[in-house]
Amino acid sequence: MTFNPILAPYPAGRPRRLRQSPWIRDLVAENRLHVSDLIWPIFVHDQDKARDAIGSLQGVDRLSIAEAVKEAREAKALGINVIALFPHLNEKIRTADAKAAIDPDGLIVQTCRAIKAAVPDIGLLVDIALDPYTDHGHDGLLINGKIHNDATVEMLVQQSLALTNGGADILAPSDMMDGRIGAIRTALEAAGHQDTMIMSYAAKYASAFYGPYRDAIGVKALKGDKKTYQMDSANTEEALREVAIDISEGADMVMVKPGLPYLDIVQRVTDTFKVPTFVYQVSGEYAMIKAAVEKGYMDHDRGVMETLLAFKRAGASGILTYFAKHVAELLKA
Ligand code: PBG
Repeated sequence: MTFNPILAPYPAGRPRRLRQSPWIRDLVAENRLHVSDLIWPIFVHDQDKARDAIGSLQGVDRLSIAEAVKEAREAKALGINVIALFPHLNEKIRTADAKAAIDPDGLIVQTCRAIKAAVPDIGLLVDIALDPYTDHGHDGLLINGKIHNDATVEMLVQQSLALTNGGADILAPSDMMDGRIGAIRTALEAAGHQDTMIMSYAAKYASAFYGPYRDAIGVKALKGDKKTYQMDSANTEEALREVAIDISEGADMVMVKPGLPYLDIVQRVTDTFKVPTFVYQVSGEYAMIKAAVEKGYMDHDRGVMETLLAFKRAGASGILTYFAKHVAELLKA
């Protein structure tokens, strides 16, 4: 922190002069939210219906592939550069070995192909993890009741190659297994995919704020918790080590998740590493704002914009948020 000692004392110095009207406040604003800061996560399902509401995420629907293409086109027209894709699969497809995750013709692979064909200039970010594909809802393979790190990494590599072949631009491993960034990067290089980008969920915490997401992807009852792989919310230094490891293994960009409860982590990561750092305003954060608005405790748009600006202030290069499309519309207005 630098502090400028040249401050005129009152009454020469009156900080309120710079707050007296919108135009001067705008002129001196230190941070600004731009539509290009936004990444929009959407959910795609394998059902016949075009859309299916997600109870815990008001205003967010699971979409058919055709509907996802439509939304991608609208998002791009609003100036959104990247959408993030998450699957909701029929229960019958979810297995202990998560084999649907590596299907070269899986739901998200098909979605990537369809969107790339229709909206070639939108970036596609895909989640690399097994939780939508396992019957138990964990991000990794359970062997004798424990998450098996290295067997999981082998699956994540295959999943990464399948999605890259389908047209994904950015792989976003959200699984928190050790060594996965290096393994994925090595496999990409070997397969000639030198341009595929990796945004690692590097500092991802075991959080109570993921509840509505699990509803969205259809995880019914997660056995146990994710604390053996996701980070303990008590820790900061560990986040810096995780980020350092992922950068050294070949991540191009990193992510901190959740968002608002971890702004300190966003700030420390951006200050320390100076690499593009993204923050995920997760489902529980979204749901909390919606609930407060419903109760009449908060103005929707002001509340949303304030949280997004907070991420920018903390140094984030961009934000994954379910509000992205709405905010893009607000920014255009
Ligand atoms: C897991 C994953 C999660 C989210 C994105 N990828 C949840 C989890 O780790 O349980 C959370 C997104 C959100 O809550 O909005 N692969």
